[in-house]
Amino acid sequence: MIDKNRYRIVSVLAALAVSAPALSAQPPQLSEEQSAAAAANYQQYCALCHGEDRQGHVNDHAPSLRSTSLMTSGMREIYFTTSYGRFGTPMAAYLDEMGGPMTKYEIRDLTLWLQSHVATEPYTPSYDAVDGDIDVGKKIYAEQCASCHGQNGEGGTGTALGNQAMLSLTTDNFLRYAIEHGRDGTEMAAFGETLSDEEIDGVTAFLRSRATGWTVEKPVLRSPPPAGDYVLNPDSPKAEFNLKDDLYVMSADLLEALQARKRIVLLDTRSPAQWQVYNIEGSVPIPYYTEYSELDTFLQDLPDDGTMIVTYCACPRAAAERVNTMIRELGFTNTAVLWEGIRGWVSFGYPVYQGQTTAEVQPAATGAGQTAGGAPSGP
Ligand code: HEC
Ligand code: HEC
Repeated sequence: MIDKNRYRIVSVLAALAVSAPALSAQPPQLSEEQSAAAAANYQQYCALCHGEDRQGHVNDHAPSLRSTSLMTSGMREIYFTTSYGRFGTPMAAYLDEMGGPMTKYEIRDLTLWLQSHVATEPYTPSYDAVDGDIDVGKKIYAEQCASCHGQNGEGGTGTALGNQAMLSLTTDNFLRYAIEHGRDGTEMAAFGETLSDEEIDGVTAFLRSRATGWTVEKPVLRSPPPAGDYVLNPDSPKAEFNLKDDLYVMSADLLEALQARKRIVLLDTRSPAQWQVYNIEGSVPIPYYTEYSELDTFLQDLPDDGTMIVTYCACPRAAAERVNTMIRELGFTNTAVLWEGIRGWVSFGYPVYQGQTTAEVQPAATGAGQTAGGAPSGP
């Protein structure tokens, strides 16, 4: 029993060490304190979308973080996805150097903590490329996968399989494992039961073919506005809205108020890493995991004159509602939550400030090893 346990922890670390050498020097087992800290980090940063019990699909179709399938095959991917996020989806980067709130050690501990709930021994998918017939895969994808994962891999109930960040941070064999074994406890079926090995190879190769000549977008970070600039149009009359359910403001009404240069405060409650990539101009990043005391300090910098405070996120509303509730509890009652969220806002074609991005074209990913090697591990 003890030996088995030791084997398990060593192999988990081996899995992390392959791609994250800096982590291998750390203690091999989570202490009670580390475990408690990881559990608290999970509740603070992840539960909103992935669920208090890691069950997934609470907001934004965030995947299950307790399926045996993912926990067995995905240590490396969980670590990287949590660190770097999946640009273009609601899954943000949580690593401090990416603008997120956690250190790499906290992310490693959280990864180990998630895995510790599952009784199986982790399996590390090889870096080898999966060879398969792309045409066969393309047909299977259209017939059996697109309904959940989107015609162009843009995602739906299933994750965005055409997402560049996802494809760059995962190996072929990790994807193949998910297709063959499914994700227990979710809508993702085990296709090993209905497709042949060749067909699974084909659909894996098809997904990988979407990553040929893939582009990594690197956001250029900028600082949040200083305290003096929190209120937009401070000398104008305050914005007033007809709120739905005494809480929600519609995108069209918010746009009108901004165009009429009304006095207003806009709070972006997503992770600051996402704020830096694109946001509604003039917004201040106040992430959903902000503590009461920090929020209280922040609110003291605002004039106590009934200026409308609008919170928004991409969830479309869960994170914004959480911060809005706290703000109201702290005594500010003229507040609202953006009904459609920032993705709805963008879909209406309303203006956003785009953090400048520099596109770096990577060489075609011929093997998964190269792909993972090209993952953004540097500063
Ligand atoms: C705002 C909602 C949200 C929050 C908060 C969030 N996630 Fe996610 N996460 C998502 C979504 C949505 C996806 C799927 C994105 C896609 O690929 O389409 C995802 C994907 C993932 C994946 C990939 C899983 C897989 O099946 O490959 C991991 C791992 C993950 N998140 C871990 C975390 C961790 C750990 C935290 C907390 C530190 C966290 N997430 C916080 C929304 C969220
Ligand atoms: C009924 C909906 C549905 C269908 C059909 C479906 N999937 Fe999925 N798939 C999902 C969901 C949902 C997830 C995320 C699992 C979770 O919630 O943890 C997923 C996850 C995956 C993953 C893991 C991706 C990641 O982000 O880690 C892969 C790979 C995948 N699916 C491939 C396929 C392929 C290939 C097909 C077709 C042969 C397919 N899926 C068909 C719903 C579906």
